[in-house]
Amino acid sequence: MKKIALKVNGRRYQFIVDSERVLLDLLREDLHLIGAKQGCDRKGQCGACTVIVDGKAVRSCVSKVADLDGAEVWTVEGLGTPDNPHLIQEAFVLAGAIQCGYCTPGMIMATKALLEGSPDPNEGEIKKAFARNLCRCTGYKKIIEAVKLAGRFIRGEISPDEVRPDPRSRTIGVSHPRPSAMLKACGLAEFSADIQMQGALEIAVVRSSEHHARIQSIDTSQAEQMPGVVGVMTAKHIKGSNRIKLIFDDQPVLCSDKVRCLGDPIAVVVAESKAQAEAAAQAVKVGYDPLPVMMTPAEALADGALQIHDEYPNLCWAQPQIKGDAQKALAEAAAVVEADFSTQMNHQAPLEPEACVAYLEGEGEDALLVVIGRSIMIHSHMAMLQGALGWENIRYEEAYCGGQFGIKVAITSEAIAGAAALHFRRPVRYIPSLHESMLLTSKRHPFDMKVKLAADKDGKLTAFVNDFTINNGAYQILGIVVGLRALQMLSGSYNIPNVEAMARLVYTNDAAGGAARGAGPPQVAFALESAMDMLAKKLGLDPFEFRLKNILAPGQSVSTGAVIEEWPFQGLWEDLRPHYERARKEAAAFKNGPIRRGVGLACHSFGIAEPGDAAMVAVERDPDDGITIYAAAADPGEGNDSMLTQIAAHLLNLPLEKVRLCTRSTEHTTETGPAAGSRITYMVGGALLNAIEQMKAAMAEAGASGYEGLQKAGKPTRFIGKKSVAEGPLDPQTGLGSTFESQVHNIQMAELEVNTDTGEVKVIKMTTAVDPGVVIHPKNLEGQLEGGMDQGVGFALREIYVHGETKDWVTFKFPTMKTAFDMEVITPRETPRKNGPLGATGIGEMTMVSTAPAVTNAIEDACGVRIYDLPATPEKIKAALLKGK
Ligand code: FES
Ligand code: FES
Repeated sequence: MKKIALKVNGRRYQFIVDSERVLLDLLREDLHLIGAKQGCDRKGQCGACTVIVDGKAVRSCVSKVADLDGAEVWTVEGLGTPDNPHLIQEAFVLAGAIQCGYCTPGMIMATKALLEGSPDPNEGEIKKAFARNLCRCTGYKKIIEAVKLAGRFIRGEISPDEVRPDPRSRTIGVSHPRPSAMLKACGLAEFSADIQMQGALEIAVVRSSEHHARIQSIDTSQAEQMPGVVGVMTAKHIKGSNRIKLIFDDQPVLCSDKVRCLGDPIAVVVAESKAQAEAAAQAVKVGYDPLPVMMTPAEALADGALQIHDEYPNLCWAQPQIKGDAQKALAEAAAVVEADFSTQMNHQAPLEPEACVAYLEGEGEDALLVVIGRSIMIHSHMAMLQGALGWENIRYEEAYCGGQFGIKVAITSEAIAGAAALHFRRPVRYIPSLHESMLLTSKRHPFDMKVKLAADKDGKLTAFVNDFTINNGAYQILGIVVGLRALQMLSGSYNIPNVEAMARLVYTNDAAGGAARGAGPPQVAFALESAMDMLAKKLGLDPFEFRLKNILAPGQSVSTGAVIEEWPFQGLWEDLRPHYERARKEAAAFKNGPIRRGVGLACHSFGIAEPGDAAMVAVERDPDDGITIYAAAADPGEGNDSMLTQIAAHLLNLPLEKVRLCTRSTEHTTETGPAAGSRITYMVGGALLNAIEQMKAAMAEAGASGYEGLQKAGKPTRFIGKKSVAEGPLDPQTGLGSTFESQVHNIQMAELEVNTDTGEVKVIKMTTAVDPGVVIHPKNLEGQLEGGMDQGVGFALREIYVHGETKDWVTFKFPTMKTAFDMEVITPRETPRKNGPLGATGIGEMTMVSTAPAVTNAIEDACGVRIYDLPATPEKIKAALLKGK
């Protein structure tokens, strides 16, 4: 032990610490300064823990306190408060650089250190200073802008008041600061691991070391005797079904007889400290009887393959789609291309681990189980927990969530934390490591696709065939929905009269697939948009003109046969044309030498509000004539809080601060459905509109202008609004049926360079042209589109998740500021959507879908190499180049 003196945020402290104590723990646990976050396994990879020590930006997770005697430490809490923020905090809020906010405190502290040494840094200096500060949400563009804006504020060139929109100005189409942004900038927003609970126990989970095996024995006797251990629980201690059911009830909370995947949970150790729980988890002995491991659909579908789930065949779902007569059209076509495409398993990669806490309010059988976690669908997750744990009285609270991108459609750590709180009757914290979070979460499904695309002599598409197989991994989670979404958006933006598809979903022993930004369309769009370029080449047409020629028009039908009324897309192509011509001209100068430049296009029409979708919102007029919105609309970083606030303020002509949100607990809120599928603006915004229309009608009837008038007239002050879409399942024989109520359209253009010596790709610029409908918050819109492009480039070039091998942000190849590229968002048209709230629709997943094929099409344009299986790594490109020589 060693006594050391520290000054933290201007206050002097003395601590007696052991040689291993790191600064991050001291700040968070001893001083309750929760601004600094842990986003990697203390490997110095993420920068979320960045603080300033003696004027330098330091990663507190690797800084030993014993080495800091006499040091001066500043954390984000020491910079400013929401009432009196630092100029850097103001800059991050006003630049729209804060989405989920998990990286934000670290980014702000890195900015402070940079600007103190270099008051006016250029982009290169910023990129260098932030090389180890990761962000998954923003694509870094707005963070770089925030750093520059902070510099201008500090140099006195401009003040926050000159940048901040007037709160009394218009509420629609203006980037008012997000309701939670300043809280996040000041390090005060509580994420799950930030919640302090008196007497909370820590959890460690014993996970399967096998991919597929029968469990012969579980011996917890030694672990139970270890220091600090309160107990060990297994499946037999769970009172409910022990099954997590979203679509199928195939996933145990704790495995009892069989493990189907590496990392499957088997036992839960609960102890006074995390270290004690982890040590005891190591001492739990599990006996396995190994079973054949099937990591691919081919292995799982082979003759005699063992069934992974007793209740379901390995081929757990199949759905054809037959529109017209594709075979006849292929036979009659002027040109046909044919190829096999595949996409990789990928991780959604939220920066925050899958943390969750749980405790009981009250005693005995009537106690209320409170679960606080990262859910984006708290009502559904509460119902799933009720069934799995056999406990009715549950409240789910959504903490601030460090990104999710679909991962939180699935239950992750909540069932284990909830089960442990119920069994041990003590508050518990389950804070898995990053590696464990990777093991326990669902992933983006890999697709294998056999594709044919045909056109007539005029270059009009005539037929499309896509026979695809999805590796579902060990559990269903959302596999069928992903397959259906792929079919519903199979023909992308185009009019294709004849479509023939077959979708198959296959259980394997790989990580379970789940929702991941776009969920299905990114995979099939990669195949279609690659084939579009191949066919354009075969026909001797420019890819731009070929696409434009085939864009669907109102009155024509998508692959489900549904005739479309609204498809505002043609004009957007003309808006992009000058950008495309500029890019082509610039690329033409790089047709010799080892560095070749290419331009690639892809487009997509993303469906929002699927058949059967529904949302409900309650609004209440408050005594001060403000309103409170009660709706479980999660905001894991997209800006849903802004959307609800600004729509309500606009409709009722209220100042923004008079709109209150109650969205984060199953108590008091209505069910809105998940914050997924880009649906919240359209569906929940639509339900909000409906509720406020009822309120306004009641006020008009009463001749009232607010709360008092409603009360006096005996009118209700609370109104429930609904938005629903008619049911319309796809026909099981033909895959035909209705489609989404709304679409958002974009064209993606990639400009990149390929080093033909190494195969390395450098993205120069991504441009997206989008018709997003009426824009509510321009900076939130840009942030979603930019973040999607950054994730799309990662999906295209680098990212791949290998279960058990991908363990951290280095092995995952997380996008960094170093790999960030120029991005331009073009929104020249805001065509109001007929049924959207104020004409708005959703845009959260748009650019994720079309980015990867735009990138691979640009690679082909640059160097002639067509990539059929993602990601397009330097090794694959180099090998293809060598083969072509
Ligand atoms: S937690 Fe310190 S760098 Fe990731
Ligand atoms: S805002 Fe940076 S990780 Fe979410």
